[in-house]
Amino acid sequence: STLGGFSSFDDCGIYKINDEKSIIQTLDFFTPIVDDPYLFGQISAANSLSDIYAMGGTPLFALNITAFPSEKISLDVLSEILQGGIDKCNSINVPILGGHTIKDDIPKYGLAVTGLIDNNSIIKNNTAKKGDDIILTKPIGSGIISTAIKKQLAKKSTIQQAIDTMNTLNDKASGIMKKYHVNACTDVTGFGLLGHLNEMCKGSNLSATISYKNVPLIPETEKFANNGIIPGGTKSNLKFLNNVLLFSDSIRESQKLILADAQTSGGLLISCDESDSKKILNELNIKAEFTSKIIGKFKDKEKYNIYCKE
Ligand code: CO
Ligand code: CO
Ligand code: CO
Repeated sequence: STLGGFSSFDDCGIYKINDEKSIIQTLDFFTPIVDDPYLFGQISAANSLSDIYAMGGTPLFALNITAFPSEKISLDVLSEILQGGIDKCNSINVPILGGHTIKDDIPKYGLAVTGLIDNNSIIKNNTAKKGDDIILTKPIGSGIISTAIKKQLAKKSTIQQAIDTMNTLNDKASGIMKKYHVNACTDVTGFGLLGHLNEMCKGSNLSATISYKNVPLIPETEKFANNGIIPGGTKSNLKFLNNVLLFSDSIRESQKLILADAQTSGGLLISCDESDSKKILNELNIKAEFTSKIIGKFKDKEKYNIYCKE
């Protein structure tokens, strides 16, 4: 029977196999966000695995889902994309058992990932509690920086940091989170920080307060956002959320867009009691790759889902 399913918008579908264990299943694929095909394969695989980690599960195996214009682009490029995915999965001993490729004008790649989880340790995205601290485990801005890279505006060091952010698995952060009591978690991807936080708010019937200055950013994100370097998906994310957000007057339009920036393979958004958050944060900041921050709190449901102050 299903424990998750489409009634909530959780990161993975859940299928209970017995009293102890469930299968969790996710699928993600997208068009290239970097020029290097091997790197694209790695990043896309990291992104696809992320939903399993957000739930606190263990990935078991994966299948490729690929579209490729084999008449226009050399098949060597396809091999490099697939090798990127294989190597990313090999790094955590997850075999890719097969998959399917279709001919299409624009390359697309990703994975269907199957994971395993204990029924009593499933971390859902709709079970945050009033008073919880909200932790974010990776900096945001990868959508804005990717757009700047396409326009050849980003510094080499910025490009490297954006790539590192997208190419890093959430396995370490997830492993640390599982050692403590966490009420809810999701990963920050295409809907941006505000979009995924809004899903947690709706599902948990709570509102959240966040502080812009506490949100970790990839360098140069503010500079590019101020100059109007904003992906289309980011603009539509913010527009879509218009009715559920309340910003302090001091928050600029470019800052709103940063908070809504569509992420690829973003960090975990963890909701946990105040008594646990400092311990989790401390261990994340010692053992995980990026600086994690407490960005806000959940509170009783009010008129707006998310209140954002400076
Ligand atoms: Co997700
Ligand atoms: Co997903
Ligand atoms: Co087939």
